[in-house]
Amino acid sequence: MIVTIDGPAGTGKSTAARGLAQRIGFDFLDTGAMYRAVAWACLQRGADVHAPDAVASVAAAINIGFSGRSTLVDGLDVSSEIRSPESSRAASIVAQHPAVRSQLVQQQQRIAASRNIVCEGRDQGTVAFPQAECKFFLTADARERALRRQQELAAAGQQVPLDELIAEQTARDDRDANREVAPLRPADDAIVIDTTPYGAEGVIDLLEQHVRLRMAAR
Ligand code: DC
Repeated sequence: MIVTIDGPAGTGKSTAARGLAQRIGFDFLDTGAMYRAVAWACLQRGADVHAPDAVASVAAAINIGFSGRSTLVDGLDVSSEIRSPESSRAASIVAQHPAVRSQLVQQQQRIAASRNIVCEGRDQGTVAFPQAECKFFLTADARERALRRQQELAAAGQQVPLDELIAEQTARDDRDANREVAPLRPADDAIVIDTTPYGAEGVIDLLEQHVRLRMAAR
């Protein structure tokens, strides 16, 4: 069974997807980490992230893997590097290239084959797994999303003004929602959940209820 969780950054998708996977005993796939890994590798190799062919070559040349909560590129743990502001910006640019997307979607489909898995990203319910049995699309108020990000950064010792985070978030959302290939949108059969009023556990509770109903109906 495949569960997909899509939505913009800061909606609590990753925490919810990881928590849900743990509760129901499914594997978990963070597809954003795959775009981040490609972006990081481009920056490392001096490849122009705006050049589709250069990025596609890098994507084809590297081996992206996961080990526990860590993301690996050619066996090297890059979990923190791929979360830097530079990698985040570059990730949303490399994610616009169709050839890169199709390579990563194929890898995602291979990873998910014959597994119980929760796949989290932007196009999991629409493009990667249109046949998934249970699809979620998480949203949250823009200010609330930026506040969550500000708290995350503060916990990591970085103080960033809210206005700056809102501007960056809006630019990233625009790129994700307006790109030609696989723009961010809910699948027609997705359950849309506004996470603004809920804490992390509350969101996981809601998702778990839906998934258990679907599992019982199989
Ligand atoms: O979820 P995230 O912030 O780690 O994602 C990083 C970037 O990758 C973000 O700009 C959106 C993009 N992305 C995508 O286009 N498709 C996915 N399935 C996952 C992420």
